[in-house]
Amino acid sequence: MSSTFKNITGTFDILPDTQTTAQDAVPGSPAWQYVEDRIRAVMRRYGAQEIRTPILEQTELVARGVGQYTDIVSKEMFAFERGEDGYVMRPEVTAPIMRAYLQHNLEQRGGVQRLYYIGPCFRAERPQKGRYRQFHQFGLELIGTEDARADAESILLPIDVCTELGVTGTTLRINSLGRPADRKRYRDALVEFLEPHAGELSETSRERLESNPLRILDTKEESERRLLEDAPDLWTFVDEESRAHFAEVRRHLDAADVEYTVDSRLVRGLDYYSRTTFELDVAGLGAQNTLAGGGRYDGLAEELGSKRPVPAVGFAAGIERLLLALAVQDAALPGIAPADIFVVALGDAARDWCFERVSAWRRAGMNAIYDLKGRSMKAQMREANRQNADTVVIVGDNELERGSVVVKDMDSGDQQDVEFAELESTLRERVRAT
Ligand code: HAM
Repeated sequence: MSSTFKNITGTFDILPDTQTTAQDAVPGSPAWQYVEDRIRAVMRRYGAQEIRTPILEQTELVARGVGQYTDIVSKEMFAFERGEDGYVMRPEVTAPIMRAYLQHNLEQRGGVQRLYYIGPCFRAERPQKGRYRQFHQFGLELIGTEDARADAESILLPIDVCTELGVTGTTLRINSLGRPADRKRYRDALVEFLEPHAGELSETSRERLESNPLRILDTKEESERRLLEDAPDLWTFVDEESRAHFAEVRRHLDAADVEYTVDSRLVRGLDYYSRTTFELDVAGLGAQNTLAGGGRYDGLAEELGSKRPVPAVGFAAGIERLLLALAVQDAALPGIAPADIFVVALGDAARDWCFERVSAWRRAGMNAIYDLKGRSMKAQMREANRQNADTVVIVGDNELERGSVVVKDMDSGDQQDVEFAELESTLRERVRAT
């Protein structure tokens, strides 16, 4: 039963059951629901409220927000035009959320907005383990404060999600980029240092030297890393106030017993950051081992046209990578929930009785299923087993005549005859007991 069509490379179907592909195992929908439920539970503890923005945004919003020369905007956008308008399938959610915040004057809700999201993002990257073209992020944006506690909260939250799910082996790196003016001065110094060595750089880094030199610091090439050891240190360009802010972030992380290393190369791949940046890595994922990343983006609102600055900080994490980490660590994830009640019905009259009863039980809040194919007793029992049913009700012409049915406990195998009048209450008792 196959068709000509397949899902696009770098995207995947989330089926009821876990499926194993050439690259990874994609957990079934019950595992996704479980992880999303735990994320929501942690978000509630932080008083965060959910925001859902459209998948489609104006291309210009992403270009301005994320930055024209970033990989995301220059190479990885799924963007298209219709008439005069440019549309993009969101590659991330921070710029859309800031757009929504400004558009709907969310500051009028009062205080700091703690907005969270869970949903798909799209980037035309080369697919590999942990890197897809459609992937899912969860994240939090704290908008309207410069307080270093907000930076600490956005670092703590993904760590708490890991703890909640039992993911271990995470490591945190943090940095401060200073103010945009510091970054600019640093950028110039870095270019001045690297230009005489341009011939030794990889093609990607040579391109970046023109477009986005700070990203060269992210290089994985050993020879470039060695070269960078003598490069000017970003930290020496960071202004006093940003240093003091960073010291506060560290003080709060210490107070919350969070371990970290300071990594002065951590510039991140999006242009909107100023001051704090951070990444949370998890062991065992191979090359794509960054589970969450984020930082402060005090200049984004003005970049998007706000007349006033709106200080903000946040993070996003990849749900696929979280699920991969859970798989690597052999964590037990829930599968399909068993059916409470399965009705085995034989004969037309019994099948009609079954439909009527099952409909009533469902309306009364119970979970009941039955066979829709009119199969044999044996096939129906097999189906009940496959569905892990706790209780099976067996009904045929004889039972209808008698006015009672057989109720079977699938764990113990015990059977009892139950009269129609007693059936609903008996089943209700059993559902409660399991
Ligand atoms: P990002 O580092 O681009 O940051 O993405 C955050 C996380 O999304 C990554 O750490 C990774 O887990 C996941 N991710 C990114 N690209 C892919 C992909 N192609 N396949 C699978 N997972 C992926 C941002 O998006 C910022 N908006 C984070 C932020 C929020 N900064 C401030 N607030």
